[in-house]
Amino acid sequence: MDFAIRQWHMEDAAPLAELLNNRHILDNLRDGIPYPYTEEDARAFIREMLEADPDQTFPYAITAGGRLAGSIGIYRCGNIHFRTAELGYYIGEAYWGMGLATYAVQQACADVFARTDILRIFAEPFSYNAASCRVLEKSGFQYEGLLRSNAVKNGKILDMKMYARLKQDSVPGYLPPQP
Ligand SMILES: CC(C)(COP(=O)(O)OP(=O)(O)OC[C@H]1O[C@@H](n2cnc3c(N)ncnc32)[C@H](O)[C@@H]1OP(=O)(O)O)[C@@H](O)C(=O)NCCC(=O)NCCS
Repeated sequence: MDFAIRQWHMEDAAPLAELLNNRHILDNLRDGIPYPYTEEDARAFIREMLEADPDQTFPYAITAGGRLAGSIGIYRCGNIHFRTAELGYYIGEAYWGMGLATYAVQQACADVFARTDILRIFAEPFSYNAASCRVLEKSGFQYEGLLRSNAVKNGKILDMKMYARLKQDSVPGYLPPQP
């Protein structure tokens, strides 16, 4: 199946609502995303992404076989961290285990490193999230340490793991697509 990342379109609202209205995804993300997640919530998110400052926020829809299958975003930090950015992503449950998140992380990071002055991209999965940690490792991120008791999610105190990739870090086996 063909994978791609691309800009968001308003027409993504219905399939986005369908795939994100899922506790198996939301339980692994930060709070702030409504549940149930409606098409109106999806439209508001897409509008916000389309209107965001293009030097601060780098949002992409992820597709598989031409259909919306997930979301990935890279967000520039502020103050002394302005050349650092945070990465977040999720894949619709029907598409798990196909290599799609790994593809999207590699593509989004390559795009941001090529187009901006960002030096470091980091992600902080919950420490139990082995699939996400594996995605980051396959994408050239280095494990930098355990962030103990760094979050409270669904009433539980959780450790998180700090992973980061620098612009100069290589990705084993990654071949960028030809234009
Ligand atoms: C985590 C998530 C993004 C992975 O997406 P995906 O497209 O299935 O990921 P990939 O197929 O690219 O890679 C998954 C890897 O994790 C491995 N994996 C999956 N479940 C695992 C588990 N329980 N323990 C160890 N490894 C696991 C897979 O075997 C695969 O590694 P491999 O290629 O070496 O076999 C997806 O499950 C998701 O959206 N989860 C909910 C939201 C989320 O966790 N987002 C990330 C927040 S930091």
